Amino acid sequence: MVASSAGRFSEAGLAQLTEIVSHYPDAGGAILPALWLAQREYGGWLPAEAVAEVAARLGRPASEVQGVASFYTMYNMQQRGRHHIEVCTCLTCGCLGAYEVIDRLEQLLGIHLGQTTPDGEFSLTEAECLNYCEAATVVQVGERYFGGVNAGNVADLIDRLRGSDDCTPVSLSNAIVEAIVPGRAGATHG
Ligand code: FES
Repeated sequence: MVASSAGRFSEAGLAQLTEIVSHYPDAGGAILPALWLAQREYGGWLPAEAVAEVAARLGRPASEVQGVASFYTMYNMQQRGRHHIEVCTCLTCGCLGAYEVIDRLEQLLGIHLGQTTPDGEFSLTEAECLNYCEAATVVQVGERYFGGVNAGNVADLIDRLRGSDDCTPVSLSNAIVEAIVPGRAGATHG
């Protein structure tokens, strides 16, 4: 059962949380999917308030929820850019130009790895192998993967992203929530 609590979960988010929790013998077992929901509901990241809301709604200590959230890199403990760019620097991509791509991105965006542009549009990090090695260098932006990226064409990718109205941390969280709660695709956060 989901406890009532102050917070920012939308009506649709609360309905999804209730549905998810109904599949567990104990609400505490739903911490992982509840955090995905919270990441979407809080705009793509998990501030302390989001962790506190999940803990209160599941009846678990905030320290336990915080421990789970901070263990997995796919939960964003800091605010990401509207487009979160992850460049694979694993072996194949690393040998085939990933670091040149990062250098060019740092130039284009005026930030370094781990940073977000002042306008909140882009954040940039490295990623481990994205399992698409034949298309090196591979860049992940939310739930989308771009192959064959190089220092010469990455500016085009930035232009395309800038012109899109997507918010990749939110859309990635939403896609995962919809996969967890099949049949509730219409119940998305507005
Ligand atoms: S090494 Fe980059 S996708 Fe595998």
